Amino acid sequence: MVLSLRNKFSVSFTLVICALILANCSGEAKKEEVEKAKTDSIASCAKPVNPNGDSELSLLMREMMSSASNLKEMVKQGNVPKEFPEAFLKIHTAQPTDSETKKASFNDFADNYISNLHALYNSPKEDLTKNYNAVVNACASCHSQHCPGPLKAINKLKIE
Ligand code: HEC
Repeated sequence: MVLSLRNKFSVSFTLVICALILANCSGEAKKEEVEKAKTDSIASCAKPVNPNGDSELSLLMREMMSSASNLKEMVKQGNVPKEFPEAFLKIHTAQPTDSETKKASFNDFADNYISNLHALYNSPKEDLTKNYNAVVNACASCHSQHCPGPLKAINKLKIE
């Protein structure tokens, strides 16, 4: 009886240790990913990455970036995207890394992007490529004034 209790204890002790090791390893992997993202040239606006973590606007932009590359594949296959990403409407209010990042023209550029995005989601098939490229141009025109760092990556989103 005493022995089996001890056994139970050592088994659960081993399990706890294993869990700790696993948790630590995945934590490390996450950290590496974050570091990699930071050194990646698309990840910054020429300024060093915010030491306080990623801003709300940065995170939103990363979602917009990955959504745009999904859209590119869809459009190339001739499919009209269906569910408008309402989350992107937060572009107006999302906090940037640096409070001076959003200049007076930001909201006009943001409106231009959102209205082009609406046009893409309501696009007739024959205008898909044109409307998709208009969205990418809307990203690029805001970026040319507000955040030139990712411009190269953004321009690669265009469909020739
Ligand atoms: C209205 C202006 C505006 C529009 C439109 C815009 N961006 Fe941005 N983008 C910004 C600003 C400002 C930042 C910097 C955010 C910060 O530093 O907090 C940024 C940051 C980024 C980043 C870097 C994110 C990071 O990891 O820090 C990427 C990538 C990006 N945008 C891609 C895009 C793409 C793709 C589109 C179009 C689908 C787009 N942007 C549309 C203004 C804009």
